[in-house]
Amino acid sequence: MSGALAGKTCLVTGASRGIGAAIAVMMAAQGARVAVHYCSNKAAAVTVKEGLVGDGHTVIGADLSDPSCGEALIGRAAGDLGRLDVLVNNAGIYLPHPALELDSEEWLSRWNKILSVNLVAPAALCQAAAKVMAEQGGGRIINVGSRGAFRGEPDGPAYGASKAGLHSMSQSLAVALAKENIQVFAIAPGFVETDMAKSLLESAAGEAIKAQSPMNRVARPEEVAEVVCFLAATEAEFMTGGIIDVNGASYLRS
Ligand SMILES: NC(=O)c1ccc[n+]([C@@H]2O[C@H](COP(=O)([O-])OP(=O)(O)OC[C@H]3O[C@@H](n4cnc5c(N)ncnc54)[C@H](OP(=O)(O)O)[C@@H]3O)[C@@H](O)[C@H]2O)c1
Repeated sequence: MSGALAGKTCLVTGASRGIGAAIAVMMAAQGARVAVHYCSNKAAAVTVKEGLVGDGHTVIGADLSDPSCGEALIGRAAGDLGRLDVLVNNAGIYLPHPALELDSEEWLSRWNKILSVNLVAPAALCQAAAKVMAEQGGGRIINVGSRGAFRGEPDGPAYGASKAGLHSMSQSLAVALAKENIQVFAIAPGFVETDMAKSLLESAAGEAIKAQSPMNRVARPEEVAEVVCFLAATEAEFMTGGIIDVNGASYLRS
């Protein structure tokens, strides 16, 4: 198959819906074979896989709230696909936890859960993938962070902290893994039209959220997928270590 990702094998976590599903669809359309990862939504992941262009795709389940499953997940993906060229750490969760409204037990429980899924599990997956990629002679890792790491998340500080950690880890690994021909990137989307943002976008705050961008809208999942596919393609090599904003100028950082 021709396309910018022809012959590449890619694992996309959280690909049963939302941004991850859009990434899987676009990667396959550009010639990749894709491992579609899910947590609880196997039927949706199978539907995503069945809709992918080309063949040789696979579906793998794993609950990343237990980060120790990371190594097995990478092993399954590399085994099913034959090798692993690209890892996209996209799976993530948001749970509200306003500081003054929760007791200390619930506050810590939410911090632990969010950090496990959004940061520690991606760290486990990065390490396991890097070992496979180093053996193969190279690879790409793309971590889906968030604008919230820079702009703040007043009602979800653990979410903002997890994404700031993910950005920082991506930069450190870009340096550590360069000699193995592994490039590492983070992207930092603003609001995207998915289940994660649905209730907020449909609430009374929805219009104000859209107005954060001078384009008066939020991103479509496909717009994020375009950036991920670009980073996965060979031409993006020298962008390693970058944190790429995808936020419609809703937040400008220096
Ligand atoms: N939407 C936004 O506004 C926005 C903005 C900035 C950044 N992001 C980031 O973009 C990424 C994708 O977000 P999205 O909006 O597409 O989210 P979404 O629609 O809520 O989908 C979340 C995905 O993550 C998977 N997932 C959830 N909990 C998991 C767990 N414990 N273990 C493994 N997988 C799990 C889900 O799998 P199942 O469905 O199978 O359970 C699903 O595929 C996230 O990292 C998010 O933080 C989103």
